[in-house]
Amino acid sequence: MTPAPAELQLLDLEPAASDFLAEAIAGLSSDPRTLPSKFFYDERGSELFQEICALPEYYVTRTETEILQQNIAAMAQSIGTGAELVGFGTGAGIKTRMLLECLEEPVAYVPVDISKQRLVQSAEELAIAMPHLEILPVCADYMQSMRLPTPARQPAHVAVYFPGSTIGNLEPATARGFLQRVCRLCAPSGGLLIGVDLQKPREILEAAYNDSAGVTAAFNLNLLVRANRELGADFALEQWQHRAIYNEIESRIEMHLISERAQTIHLGGHAFEFAAGEKIITEFSYKHTVAGFTALAESAGFQLSRTWTDPQQWFAVFHFTVPE
Ligand code: TRP
Repeated sequence: MTPAPAELQLLDLEPAASDFLAEAIAGLSSDPRTLPSKFFYDERGSELFQEICALPEYYVTRTETEILQQNIAAMAQSIGTGAELVGFGTGAGIKTRMLLECLEEPVAYVPVDISKQRLVQSAEELAIAMPHLEILPVCADYMQSMRLPTPARQPAHVAVYFPGSTIGNLEPATARGFLQRVCRLCAPSGGLLIGVDLQKPREILEAAYNDSAGVTAAFNLNLLVRANRELGADFALEQWQHRAIYNEIESRIEMHLISERAQTIHLGGHAFEFAAGEKIITEFSYKHTVAGFTALAESAGFQLSRTWTDPQQWFAVFHFTVPE
């Protein structure tokens, strides 16, 4: 690969292994048991996630990309001239690149991602494709408050891009708190462009998260692989099964790891007893409605500017601004 321009400087706020340990112990001690989903994205996890995005059953990435392709000019116009684009969890950066190429005079791009390898790789590729754009990558858990780097040139405003329906992985109260912080980051004259997965029939949702090739299962189980490797846990992988179910009352997909038999897991000096069939919840993926998500963002201080959806209304991209 072509070497990256020397000026690409990573701000490294990656969570420490001790954070993973503390969160894993707390999660496994709670009822129901949980494991923190942000730790999905080690090198292997990020690779598997890329594979998920290309699965035939996983309509999410494909649909969002189509909406972007069809409406990119209008989205760029809504964002406006001279923006500093802050991207949260923008992954491989394909959608972000489309957006940056359409934006009028973007001042800088600040990608924030927990997966360092994915972040650095996509920033390097972007630096080659757009050599005049200032890129300031930050490796961090963007659910925590952080000070972002300051671009060399003063932006007209901050525009946040949050694709992939990652907001759906937050419980509504947490999502509201996160959106409030994003709103402060965008103030006074910026905005938020955000991709949100919508409610649809159970069969489609459950197929998307229980793909026939077993990639999502491998992705979910990778959390246990990582706990074994990095935290010295003793999960026997063949005794755990992936299952995603749609909880219609809460409008969310629940990703579970099911213990196939009664067993004891050791981790960080603790012993956790599992009954046969007991689950660990690893992630939620909330499915919103356009009206419901608009209300949530408004309760966090935003004002709706525009929405775009696909013909089936499976996915929506919203642009919100900060009221004056
Ligand atoms: N946020 C997306 C979703 O909920 C992508 C995602 C996050 C995902 N974690 C996942 C997809 C686990 C499949 C499995 O759909």
